[in-house]
Amino acid sequence: MKIAIIGTGYVGLVTGTCLSDLGHKVTCIDLDKKKINNLKKGIVPIYEQGLEELVIKNIKKNNLSFTNSLKKGIKGAKTVFVCVQTPSKKDGSVELKYVYKVAKQLSENIESYKVIVNKSTVPVGTAKEVKKIIKKKYKGDFDVVSCPEFLREGSAVIDFFGADRIIVGCESEKSCQIMKEIFKKMKVKKIFTNLENAELVKYASNAFLATKISFINEMSNICERVGADVEVVARGMGLDRRIGQYFLRAGIGYGGSCFPKDVKGLNQISGTHGYDFKLLKAVIEVNNYQRQLLVERSEKILKNLKNKQITIFGLAFKNNTDDIRESAAIEIIKRLQKKGAKVQAYDPVAQKNAAKVLNNIIFWEDPYKACENSQALIIATEWPHYKDFDWKKIKHLLRRPIVLDGRNLLDPEKMKKLGFIYESIGR
Ligand code: UGA
Repeated sequence: MKIAIIGTGYVGLVTGTCLSDLGHKVTCIDLDKKKINNLKKGIVPIYEQGLEELVIKNIKKNNLSFTNSLKKGIKGAKTVFVCVQTPSKKDGSVELKYVYKVAKQLSENIESYKVIVNKSTVPVGTAKEVKKIIKKKYKGDFDVVSCPEFLREGSAVIDFFGADRIIVGCESEKSCQIMKEIFKKMKVKKIFTNLENAELVKYASNAFLATKISFINEMSNICERVGADVEVVARGMGLDRRIGQYFLRAGIGYGGSCFPKDVKGLNQISGTHGYDFKLLKAVIEVNNYQRQLLVERSEKILKNLKNKQITIFGLAFKNNTDDIRESAAIEIIKRLQKKGAKVQAYDPVAQKNAAKVLNNIIFWEDPYKACENSQALIIATEWPHYKDFDWKKIKHLLRRPIVLDGRNLLDPEKMKKLGFIYESIGR
């Protein structure tokens, strides 16, 4: 099937590329000329495992192409996936101007029946609004569908092909059939429902996962006070299939471009519909508290942070990505700097992005160099390869053998045996 994708951010590029790999003829559209020129050559602007290979493979197979022109890109396409950003506004509400702008452009350029698929995370009612905007100008036949995405950064390609479910909200039998055809090859549970349900499933899923994280973070704070180990408590809880083992890793809180935005967004949506979603407010509060924890701990151990040199391992909001949006690591660095600390950092892929938002910081390509003469080391992102570092060597390089592990990555016993003053979260 001929498919157009509008927006080549994480969602758009991954969705478009994976759909082309399923055999569809996909054209990805973006305003950014440089990005499109690079993509045409197979140069992917983000770090995402397996994506570049798939892009190159499907360009060669003539299944995937890129353009700056919306008019050309959507010509002849049966479906158009809208994958533009929906950032948070200052008050926490969802910015929909990009979605509506695309709707307006579509209304001016549609030349034949199309299913307009909304992939961006949007409040309930947005799909209907998109329909209204298109109808204002385009008088022909078309449908609007909501198909939220559940991909995680860092494992987006794997998540696409190994999805737990596909949710499609549609209003007509014709658009449902077309969506079924698109995902025919994917042997996964599919729920076809109305627009409102589909739109809400996405918010509910992200908000629930964030709630799980804040819950285990609260537990970690209790664990520390009663002498328990949150890792064991989480494992014990997770074995109950009703609870599940995932998203119970305690740490410095959730970040990224989705959870913080969507929790705030759902809270706002509830408010505008006259309902006070009390739980979500607590989820946000706990997350803010977790980010502050390691700053307070550094201060407690080092007494005063003024002119103290601290090393940070990890800058992105989680491992396997170079994305630093709403990263707890960045927030912690800024707070340490505010208290007068000098920071040096190592991250295998996120340094370039971090350099755009941080000042007065030294980045090192070599993790060992990053440790030299520091008073403490903070682990802020859970890259598994950190475990294999020569920790004996790191102990000698640090001025004081202090490791604050914000992700519970390392083994406390091993670290203590090596002579570190080692603190982690909830154990
Ligand atoms: C999240 C969802 O997991 C995806 O299903 C969804 O499609 C995506 O948002 C989206 O809305 O686009 P993502 O933001 O890529 O995906 O990252 P996650 O792997 O979910 O992690 C989010 C944050 O939670 C990270 O900062 C991570 O370190 C933190 N986290 C995760 C924890 O602190 N503990 C955990 O147990 C799990």
